[in-house]
Amino acid sequence: MSAPTTPSPRPDPRAATALHAKLDAALRNAIIRALGDTGASADPTLKPATQARFGDFQANFAMGLAKSLGRNPRELAEQILSAGASLLDPLCEKLEVAGPGFVNITLRGSIIADALHEMDTPALGVPAPGRGRCVAVDLCGVNVAKQLHVGHLRASIIGDSMARLHERLGWTVFRQNHLGDWGLPIAMTLASLERAGANLSRLTLDDLNHAYRRAQAEGRDDEAGLAAARETQAGPHRIAELEAQHAGASALLTQTHETLRRLQGGDPSTVAAWKSLIAVTMREVFETAATLGVILDDTHSRGESFFRDQLAPTVDAFVQAGLAERDQGALIVRFRDRERPLLIQKSDGTSLYATTDLAAARYRIAQLGAERVIYCVDARQRDHFRDVFDAIHAIGWDRLPHGGTAQLIHVPFGAVLGADKRPLKTRSGENFTLKALLDEAVARGRREVHARAQQPDAPTAGLPHAELDAIGQAVGIAAIKYADLSGDVSRDYVFDLDRMVSFEGDTGPYAQYAHARIAGILAKAGGPSTAAPLQVSTAEERALALMLLRYASTVQDAAEQCAPNRLAAFIFELANAFNAFYQSCPVIKEADPSLRASRLRLCDLTRRVIADALSLLGITAPARM
Ligand code: ARG
Repeated sequence: MSAPTTPSPRPDPRAATALHAKLDAALRNAIIRALGDTGASADPTLKPATQARFGDFQANFAMGLAKSLGRNPRELAEQILSAGASLLDPLCEKLEVAGPGFVNITLRGSIIADALHEMDTPALGVPAPGRGRCVAVDLCGVNVAKQLHVGHLRASIIGDSMARLHERLGWTVFRQNHLGDWGLPIAMTLASLERAGANLSRLTLDDLNHAYRRAQAEGRDDEAGLAAARETQAGPHRIAELEAQHAGASALLTQTHETLRRLQGGDPSTVAAWKSLIAVTMREVFETAATLGVILDDTHSRGESFFRDQLAPTVDAFVQAGLAERDQGALIVRFRDRERPLLIQKSDGTSLYATTDLAAARYRIAQLGAERVIYCVDARQRDHFRDVFDAIHAIGWDRLPHGGTAQLIHVPFGAVLGADKRPLKTRSGENFTLKALLDEAVARGRREVHARAQQPDAPTAGLPHAELDAIGQAVGIAAIKYADLSGDVSRDYVFDLDRMVSFEGDTGPYAQYAHARIAGILAKAGGPSTAAPLQVSTAEERALALMLLRYASTVQDAAEQCAPNRLAAFIFELANAFNAFYQSCPVIKEADPSLRASRLRLCDLTRRVIADALSLLGITAPARM
């Protein structure tokens, strides 16, 4: 065996924490010391322990290595640990070979305390790998003149948290609200309002919504009914009636197309009317976003209309590149691995939703310089995005201005269901509007907070009514957002307000309450003493500290994987770890002043991490509840 050269093994890129990385490096070096070059590429396979009684970490390298060397794994593990003793001893309190050759590792409390001290900065140990990099987040995506529905809740909440996560990691974030503000539906609504002689400056979104529905109903071609009537040999009166309806519908359609032509041709009065429809819609959208605590305003609007001049050049580019072919007058892009083509121009020469998305993706990458484009859109649009992304790759529009290729990511989200497991409906059978849902959640949050404030020993007892209302609002909104973000977002979930507003279990209010409780402890103790040395001695302190140390990697993981639920799960576990700590470790009543100070610092760090993590989900953390 060759003598160990100065070992420089690569650190594990998946190392969850700085501490994990340190331990990983020590183990790598120990393996090299024991085995020389043979061990140079060995992976310590270090993982957090599955159970606290086995220690803090477990390393499973011995089994694989022993197999390839034809040796006994337990003996090999012992040999490596003793060869690396001088590297491992400063980090580890206990190293134990168990079972077939696992290494159970318990870190020294002082090492954990040092790492915790290092993370105790305003950034809470979260790095900024996104500095100098751009990401575009496609969120909200409402359609002008249509009422906001529950689906837009998800597109806004999930998109907002993706934006916040990336901002926290230093990325420059472009929120892109891809409004449905162009094309036939808008023209239908406009034409219908024109017919009704409506005063556009006085309209609400509800009025627009009705106009849209009316237009849909009026315009519904009754051809099917007509055919059925003929088939069933309905009376001549009925057929004549349907024929008249059909003719009427056709006339309306002509009128709608005329409005669309004027709009697209830039006729000033039609364009002005169109702009007021957008203004009416957006006023309500922004109001709702503000209630929800979703960051969204005019500067984020990049609707379909924004790309209208890019549609023809987009189609041309695909034709020029030989990627589009004629199919019965229409233009399509074909893919090698599937039947379904992507339609980019209809036979009448008009373009489609997909054409706009191609132009928008190009803009985001080439103009905004986004190296990630994250689409927070309904799972039912999976095929659409798959096709659009593949078309973008095929034409090479994913190439970044300064080299490399952009990542296009669809974050598909599931439906929000009622108790009957069907898409959420009101009693009268209509889809729930977002506003109705939020109003109810806020009312529930307020009721809960006011009821708690009645108890004489409640931290909120005696607070002014308006302040309790504000806390209640924060609770109601947290309930909705947390429920939306804490599951795998691609899944459907049941909208169960009782569960969501509960202060118990994996809920937003539970996390908020943990934060408020700690804030209360700190206030009572007269605040944390930031200079006090940290001590990690009891099992609960250790568990809490190791949890806190995972914060930075959790934020990175949630952003990287576009999985806000990973952050929510972390918050829940952290709140639980804190509760276990607080139950067994006296804080305010601790007699030893240095231990008391250390524990107060642990409390404060936990409070700040919970508040920060909640803020990345767009959830506020009131100081009292
Ligand atoms: N307006 C679309 C809809 O309601 C959503 C837009 C999503 N974003 C996009 N780039 N296609 O279905």
